[in-house]
Amino acid sequence: MKRIPDARPLIAPSLLSCDFARIGEEIQAIEAAGADLLHVDVMDGHFVPNITIGPPVVAAMKAHAARPLDVHLMISDPDRYLADFAKAGADILTVHWEACAHLHRTVQAIHDLGLPAGVSVNPATPVWLLKDILGDIEMVLVMSVNPGFGGQRFIPQALEKISELRNIADDIGCTDLRIEVDGGVTAENAAEIKRAGADILVSGSAIFKSGDYAGYISALRG
Ligand code: DX5
Ligand code: ZN
Repeated sequence: MKRIPDARPLIAPSLLSCDFARIGEEIQAIEAAGADLLHVDVMDGHFVPNITIGPPVVAAMKAHAARPLDVHLMISDPDRYLADFAKAGADILTVHWEACAHLHRTVQAIHDLGLPAGVSVNPATPVWLLKDILGDIEMVLVMSVNPGFGGQRFIPQALEKISELRNIADDIGCTDLRIEVDGGVTAENAAEIKRAGADILVSGSAIFKSGDYAGYISALRG
């Protein structure tokens, strides 16, 4: 199975906020600036009220990427598309708890494709619901905004959820579990997010609007 890189924290710029007309150059620039993962937001206009990209665009991104593609599927019934996104070049596949009727089966399907599996929870979904799947997954993605759009404000309750999740994971021996946080992450709140127990920070609009990708990524890394 592919692996999530070992370093902590990992910084995962969200390509949703890059200039899509210059996607190849943007990927090269963000990797040169120190990105560890490339976060790819897939939205279907059904699970979330926005539509972004599908497998062909992920494949186009992959052609320019040296770093792993961290593909965040904000889509209903993701089982239908796992193989397509794996084929397009995803290196990590994350599905939403709220979108899966048979989450354990979905996680197995991701593993059968040779990829690490992430499960994401929306702001109103408690992290304790994940307890029985934590031993089977590599990552939890805690949403710190309601998914659908970049540029929203960080919801502070996410901090408690991260700490609670870290405690639950440690209690049941899942010490390798990665916790990723996505939505409204900035250089101002990165330190407290990491202190709460997060290993992977996704940040989109803050990095791409900064005008200094390298400076902003190193500020997030701290
Ligand atoms: C939101 C997406 C995020 C988003 C992050 O639905 O999952 O990855 O692009 O963007 P910022 O950092 O601007 O909140
Ligand atoms: Zn995302």
